[in-house]
Amino acid sequence: MKGLILAGGAGTRLYPVTLAVSKQILPLYDKPMIYYPLSVLMLAGIREVLIISTPRDLPLFRELFGSGEWLGMRFDYRVQENPRGLADAFIIGADFIGGDSSALVLGDNVFYGRGFSRTLRSAAALVAEKGGGAIFGYYVKDPGAYGVVEFDSQGRALSIEEKPARPRSHYAVPGLYFYDSGATEIARSIRPSARGEIEITAVNNAYLERGRLSVEILGRGMAWLDTGTYDGLLEASNYIATIQKRQGMYVSCIEEIAFANGWISRDDLVALARKYKTSYGDYLAYIAENL
Ligand code: DAU
Repeated sequence: MKGLILAGGAGTRLYPVTLAVSKQILPLYDKPMIYYPLSVLMLAGIREVLIISTPRDLPLFRELFGSGEWLGMRFDYRVQENPRGLADAFIIGADFIGGDSSALVLGDNVFYGRGFSRTLRSAAALVAEKGGGAIFGYYVKDPGAYGVVEFDSQGRALSIEEKPARPRSHYAVPGLYFYDSGATEIARSIRPSARGEIEITAVNNAYLERGRLSVEILGRGMAWLDTGTYDGLLEASNYIATIQKRQGMYVSCIEEIAFANGWISRDDLVALARKYKTSYGDYLAYIAENL
């Protein structure tokens, strides 16, 4: 399975913060925002990742991750010339995906919680082995800004609507999507919506209509954080700081995950720890000694 991170867009909702720099490179407490969605793909066991961003910002991500070898991974990079919509990721990434199954995560989505690694691995296994698509539902107070999924009394998904004026449920669809190799073909067939985008919700509906979409609820033990506003950024940073200081365990530490996955050695981790004269470096050294 291949991983895609969509890290483009204009970031207008955060102006002037994002006038000169991509939103997904901004810090969430102690690491660039993109570390958080990257960690999601890594926890799903995905080792090959395509980063998609604007012509202006893509070089920043290349500088940040390079070939990915230092994480025991392979990174590739592609430009999205215009923010045409989320489904565009599967068109831009077609040659990278190369007929494999894939997982797309939005570069500004942050997840943290109990049992999440297991959830990710079973979604990846389901799609890789049985085909179809797998997405999630997350209860929010105000779902109208998201894709919203409606369930029947048996908990089966009935419909998904993008930013509905009158949401049919409180279940928002987070920016994390697992699909079989058919996603690119579906994306190519989608017509732009009223707001001019090729919507990921249309891809989900295509799988739903074929009876090939799994929608799993992420329960109350999970945090799915919003980073789309000034307050959202601040609150996400504070949340991460609170957890990390209390537990002494880091949220979305990509070097730790690479080590736990067996993709880099203990010596590699020690060498990475020495590069940072910060508490982040201290944590890597601690993990190398204790994990
Ligand atoms: O966060 C989850 C939501 O993401 C879903 O519930 C919605 O169904 C989905 O449409 C999307 O809604 P947003 O309104 O949050 O999408 P937005 O346009 O803000 O784009 C999400 C991220 O993807 C953002 O960081 C910018 C980036 N992006 C967006 C577009 C449209 C791109 O890189 N390229 C694009 O073409």
